[in-house]
Parts: sequence; structure tokens; C-alpha cells
Amino acid sequence: MFQIRKMSSEEVLKLVTCTAPVNIAVIKYWGKRNETLILPVNDSISVTLSSNQMNAKTTVTASPSFTEDKIWLNRELQIKSGRLSLCLEEVRANARMIANPPVNPEWKVHVCSENNFPTAAGLASSAAGYACLVTALCKLYNITGDTSVLARRGSGSACRSVYGGFVHWQMGVREDGRDSIAVQLAPSSHWPELRVLICVASDSRKKTSSSVGMKNSVETSPLLKFRAEHCVPKRTREMIQAIQDKNFPVFAELTMKDSNQFHAVCQDTYPPCVYLNQASHAVSSLVHQINSSSHNLVAAYTFDAGPNACIFLLEKDVPHFLALFRYYFSDGASEFIRGETAVESKLEDSEIASLSMDKIPGGLKYVLVTKVGDGPELLGEDDHLMDQNGEPLFCSK
Ligand code: DP6
Repeated sequence: MFQIRKMSSEEVLKLVTCTAPVNIAVIKYWGKRNETLILPVNDSISVTLSSNQMNAKTTVTASPSFTEDKIWLNRELQIKSGRLSLCLEEVRANARMIANPPVNPEWKVHVCSENNFPTAAGLASSAAGYACLVTALCKLYNITGDTSVLARRGSGSACRSVYGGFVHWQMGVREDGRDSIAVQLAPSSHWPELRVLICVASDSRKKTSSSVGMKNSVETSPLLKFRAEHCVPKRTREMIQAIQDKNFPVFAELTMKDSNQFHAVCQDTYPPCVYLNQASHAVSSLVHQINSSSHNLVAAYTFDAGPNACIFLLEKDVPHFLALFRYYFSDGASEFIRGETAVESKLEDSEIASLSMDKIPGGLKYVLVTKVGDGPELLGEDDHLMDQNGEPLFCSK
């Protein structure tokens, strides 16, 4: 039985601060077989993105003097959601099993978290957020071993953000979900030439959340069942091989086909969930036209539950695609290209003439240049988001 340790007034709070990355699925997770435990109907594979451009940062601490669990997200105190509480409880249950945890799991916690990218961009922030929360709490309680099972309880895709590089979420078969874990297929250093362009589409329409959308799909889409049983298992094996071989054309084709099938499932859902907009379709068309004129697959698009395109390509092709995106989708606003330093090539008039594309000025707000990155990182005391009393620093500024 755990001994309740009292904290004396001289003792200082233990603060832990971590960052965790965003991940982009190339084989999509869509549909749960168990809503509470967040168990998927199929395996998925993702690429973890560099934390330089996008990450979540979280500080956690616990104290016997705290009266309730408190979570500040992007400077706002959160109303506790079922997911958040379940995730926290699951971490605490694990901490109780540790012989002598450095921090008493019965104490209430304070959590302060922020993203370094605008949530308005519609980029999946919950994966990085939950991966970061769980990583920081595990460090606080000294929970070692796989943390993907715990992150999964917050948000399915979060389990893939606890590892860097290329990650496989194995759906598992157990009813209790203990074998529904993420494993790293290869580290970020495996494929150094791979680059990612996040094309942020201008779109303020309110979209159906992933959770609600996939629930509707499970209930109404016959295509989802077919996809999970007959398409994803083979595609997953092929994708693992393509990543191992660093075979870009195979990787690209599988990525695009899987994104297309995921959106076909969304269309097959009743009522349909529509996530793509005119700019999304134009970006897909441009990628297909360039692949066709290159007589090779040089780029691949993938779309999550929103209109932003995520483009995978090799470093040598980045200047060409940046120039194309600016030409067709920029409205001339500054800072159209963001992120990693990158040059743009000069477009030939003959190429423009050969493409069957109309300009959509403002169709993209900006393009973020990024690459494959590492998993969560533990930061030092200079990076804490809370003071020694466990209050957010932004409150005292
Ligand atoms: C389209 O992980 O956000 O991005 O488990 O309900 O929190 P919940 O869903 P979430 O779904 C992500 C769906 C996706 C595809 C993917 O990332 O695999």
C-alpha cells in the first residue's frame, strides 16, 4: 500500500517540463472499436514532425496543498473533460503501482501547456498535447517503459507522438487495449532527405471533430469496414517496407491512396463529413500533374480531418513545389513560406502553360517547411511554464 508522504514547508515543488511533437499519419487511423479505451479498427503509420516548427510544451507539478487538478491550455484554464480526467487517472493508476514514486499520486496536479503553432491553423494539436502531458507526468512519477498506451487514452493519434521518426500504431487484439501500442519503425535520422510542407488552407468553416466524425463513420459507412478488414493490413505491410527501403515512389503512392480512401470513407459516412475544400482539391491535382510530368512520383499529399494539405517530398524538390504553391495559391501576403530555410526555384512559362490549373489567390495562408523529427524531450528549469508555487508564469507577468 502506498504511504502518503507529507511535504514539509521547506520542500520545493518538483516541476517537470517537456515538449512533444506533432505527427502526420500516412496510413490513417479512422474509427474506434472501443470508444472509452480508444481502440482503433485498424493499424496506422505516421511520421513525426520536427519540434522546431511545431510542438506542445507542458509543465506539470503536484502538491498536497493543491485543492483540485488544474489544467491551463494556451493560457486558458480548462474545464475538465472526460478524456483529460480519464488520461490523468490512468497515469495515476500506473504511478500507484510504483514502489516508491517520487511524488505522491494522490496529490492534485497543476498542468500548464502551450503550442508553439497557432491552433487556428487547424493542425492537429491534441496529439502533441496529450503526448506531452503523459510524458511529463510519467517523468514526474518516474513511470518508465512504454508511454504510448497512456497517451492513447487522451487521443488516439497521441500514442504515435511519443516516438520520433516513423511510427506504427498496432491496433492490438486485446479487449483491455494493453497491446494497442505505438512502436518506432525507424528513427528520424533514417531518411534525412525527406521533407514535409504543411500547406495551411484559408478556411474558417467549423468542421466535425475527428472523434464525432469517426463515430459516425463506424456507425454508417460500409466502406470503413471494408477498408479496415481488406485494405489497411496489406497497405500497412507495404508501407513498412517502403519506409525501410526509403522507396519514395512506393511511399508516395501508398500515402496518397490511403488519404484518398480515408476521405472516401468520410464521404460514405451519413451524413457525410466534408473536410476538403477547393484549395485542397487543387493542391492534390497539382501534385498529380507534377508527378505525371516528372514521369515519377516526386511528391505525395495527405489530408487529415481538415483542408490543410501535408506534402511529403525529397529535399531536392522543395524549391520547385514552393514556387508552384506561391504562384497558384498566394495572395501576395508576406511570410508565405515559413519554417526551415528554403529557396524557391524560378518557374518556366512553358511549365505553367502545360499545367491545367487555375490560380486560387489566398487559397493557402502559408506553407510551413519542416522535416522528420524526434520524440518528446525533457527540458530544463529555465523552460518551466509554472513558478515554484505551481502557478502559471503568464499569471505573474
Ligand atoms: C484524421 O486522434 O484526433 O488525423 O482518438 O478521437 O482523439 P481521437 O481522434 P484523433 O484522430 C485523428 C484522425 C486523423 C488520422 C490520423 O491521425 O491517423
